Parts: sequence; structure tokens; C-alpha cells
Amino acid sequence: MIDPSSYSAVLRRSFRKTFPPAVRGEGVYLWDARGKRYLDFSGSAAVNFIGHGVVEIAAAMATQAKQLEFVHSSQFTTPVAEAYATELLDFAGKNFAGGCVYFTCGGSESVETALKLARQYQVEIGQTSRYQVISRGQSYHGSTLGALSVSGNKQRREIYRPMVREFAHVGFPYCYRCAFDCTDSCRSCGQEYAAEVDQAITATEGEVAAFILEPVSGATLGAVVPPPGYLQSVAEICHRHGVLLIADEVMTGMGRTGRNFAVEHWDVAPDLLVTAKGLSSGYAPLGAVLVSKRVASAIADGSGAFLHGFTYNSHPISLAAGRAVLRFLQERKLALAANSNRQGSTAAILHHELEGLRDAETVGDVRGIGLLWAVEFVADKGTKQPFAAGLNFAGRVAQAAVRRGLLVYPMQGCVDGVSGDHLLIAPPAIIDNEQIDWAVKQLKAAIQETSC
Ligand SMILES: Cc1ncc(COP(=O)(O)O)c(C=O)c1O
Repeated sequence: MIDPSSYSAVLRRSFRKTFPPAVRGEGVYLWDARGKRYLDFSGSAAVNFIGHGVVEIAAAMATQAKQLEFVHSSQFTTPVAEAYATELLDFAGKNFAGGCVYFTCGGSESVETALKLARQYQVEIGQTSRYQVISRGQSYHGSTLGALSVSGNKQRREIYRPMVREFAHVGFPYCYRCAFDCTDSCRSCGQEYAAEVDQAITATEGEVAAFILEPVSGATLGAVVPPPGYLQSVAEICHRHGVLLIADEVMTGMGRTGRNFAVEHWDVAPDLLVTAKGLSSGYAPLGAVLVSKRVASAIADGSGAFLHGFTYNSHPISLAAGRAVLRFLQERKLALAANSNRQGSTAAILHHELEGLRDAETVGDVRGIGLLWAVEFVADKGTKQPFAAGLNFAGRVAQAAVRRGLLVYPMQGCVDGVSGDHLLIAPPAIIDNEQIDWAVKQLKAAIQETSC
């Protein structure tokens, strides 16, 4: 029975947890209704990249709302959609030159859109038997049923399994716990993991339409950077088999990893690129699918119509927010700030400070790139034995951090889908050195308190 003292008319994410009402945001900080201040060290869930409370974004949204709040995309296009799509394609670079953009309200809708685009592309070019979408175990691509079917996150999909279409999930690089017992610091296992993609595609005898992956694993594994050569080989394998490569950059896009999109670190050209979160930095519900010229042309030259749509796709107010966010992050060179390979950058300083957490008895790994990092906890550093899942170690560290006014993003299941605890750290790129120093000190104290 619902406890009447904690009843809420909102169906929240948990009936057990208490949620403080958030009332204000500015810079890296959020405030609740009691006046408590929180440093947003995870950008909520790797959403906020430009900081909270940026007045230019609110102003751009208000201007758009006053002028034109909505039209249906079956009847009109809008100046904001046309201009913003062009700017986003430019931001994505030469790979998407001559392509186009499909705007949605978030990551899951964008993944659904990409899955359908991949299928339609194959039909348009006469490959009508291709419909399967292969993905990786320990991945997350969204909560709608199509996106969940290609997600490998056990906990998030378990009870819905009877409702989702099952396609193959292949192995995934996770070098802290590498499946290949590498002795060369995982310099060559990328080829072994890529070979699994090749085998899975071959095994389906021409039924695969696309392969989807997070170039840098997001929440499920915790900021795992792929080994050298892996992404390039996967791209080559997909291309060779006529399978589209979908890069899910919902979490890693828009500068978060220090490049405009994470695939640029490995010079990989996906056919479809999905992005959300940092796209609007949370100022409005927004996602996008960047469609390469080859895919767009196949539809344009074929049936001529994409058989898909949401009432709110290309919503003018969300697009005004996204466009203002893009201008803001470009003017302030926030992707550069997020480049952890650049000496003295915000991201390099964050990395350096987080490395200090390795001294803690329960910290097994610190990994990531740019402004996307994870701290993995272990019960035994020597054996990498995880904590029992029931202990909810990462959740307890996050709660201890919240008591200190620090927000981080706890996750479980990185080891086998159930056990394994980690935190995601993904602050806004406008965080300063003093704030990083304070945040890491609080995190260290929270870890120590939880470890006792
Ligand atoms: C990599 C990735 N893809 C897709 C999604 C789903 O996005 P949304 O929650 O906006 O629907 C997420 C959300 O965390 C994500 O991290």
C-alpha cells in the first residue's frame, strides 16, 4: 500500500525514495525548496553540458514561443528547423555533408527513428530481407520497446523481455575486466571484439540491417573507452556486409568527450548518428538523428517518404533551445574545455583529480574520456571482486555525496548485468578548478564513509 504520508500524485521513479523538490539552477549548482545547494557533478544524467540557468537559452525559447509555438511537421517546416539542421550538420563535419537531420524529443525516440531508418534504407535499396539490428551486451539505447530490444542492460530490460524482439547481442570491450585476459594492456583485443560483430552478422545470413553501439559506453558499463582499432574495424565490417552503422551518441555527443562527436576520436563515419541529452543540455526535450547523404538519398530516390513521425518532432521551442545551446557551446569552445588530452583543460584537471580516488580501498578503476568518467568500486582490489549487489554500494556512495551537497550518478550491473557498482561523473563543461577540487574531496569523503 502507498504510505499516505509520502503520497505524490506524480508517478515517480520510486515509491521508496524521497525526492527533494528542485526549484532553481545556476551554473554548476541546483537548489532544492529548502534552500540546500547541490553541485551537479553528473550533469543530472550526463545531460547538462553548458551549465544551468543560462538566460540566453530561456530568451531564445521565449522568443520562439511568442512568435510560433508549434506547427505539425506534416504541414510545415520552420525557419528554426532549417537553420538548426544546417548548423548541426556543419557541427558533425564532412561525414554528414549533404545529409539531413530528423528531430525528436529525446534519446529513445531518436533510437527508434534510427532503427526504422535503417530498415527503410535496406528496403529502398532492395535488401528487403534485412531487418535485424545487432547490438552489444551491456549497452543502453533507451526505454521504448524498440530501443530496449537493442539494449543489453539486463536490469532495465528484464521484465519486458517477453515484449521485445530479440536480436543478437555481441561482446563488448571492457578493458578493466577484459574477456581476453590481455597481457598487452588491451592493445590488440579490439580485433577480437570486432570479430564477434563479423560472426554475428555472418550468422544471420543477410538479415542484418544495422549494428548499433555507444562509441564510449555510457551509463551501463560506465565510460568505457574502446581499445585501439576496435571502432575502425567494426565500421569496416559493417560496410563490407552492407550493414548500417548506428552510433548512439545520446550521452557522448555535442562535445562531452572533447570532440564534437565521440566517433571523431577514431575517425569513424557512421551512417546514422543519434544524439540527445547535451543537444539541448536539458533546456527542452530534444533529440536528433543525423542521417548520412547515402541513407537520405536512398529514401529520396526511392519511395520518397520516410514512414515515421511523432506529433512533436521538430518542435519549434525545443529547436530554438537546441540552437541557442549549440551557439553557446561553440562560442565558449566548450568541446575544447572537455578535451582531456589537452593540457590544462577542464577535463584534464578533472581526470587528474579523479585519478587520486584510486587510493581508496574500494576504488578498482577510474576510466573515461573528456568530461565523461566513471569510478568502479570493488570489494577486493586484487581479485576485482565486486560488492554483493544487495549492498547497493554505488547507491550508498551517491546518497552520502548528496548529504554533502554533491550529485553523482550511481549504477549497478557493470560486471554481469547484476553485480558491479560504479558512479558516472559528467559535470557541465563550465565547472571551474575550485569546484572540481571541492567535488572530488566530497566524493572521496563519501566513498570513505560508505566503505567503513
Ligand atoms: C546511450 C544512450 N542512448 C539512449 C538513451 C535514451 O535517451 P532518453 O532517456 O533521452 O530517451 C540514453 C539515456 O540515458 C543513453 O545514455
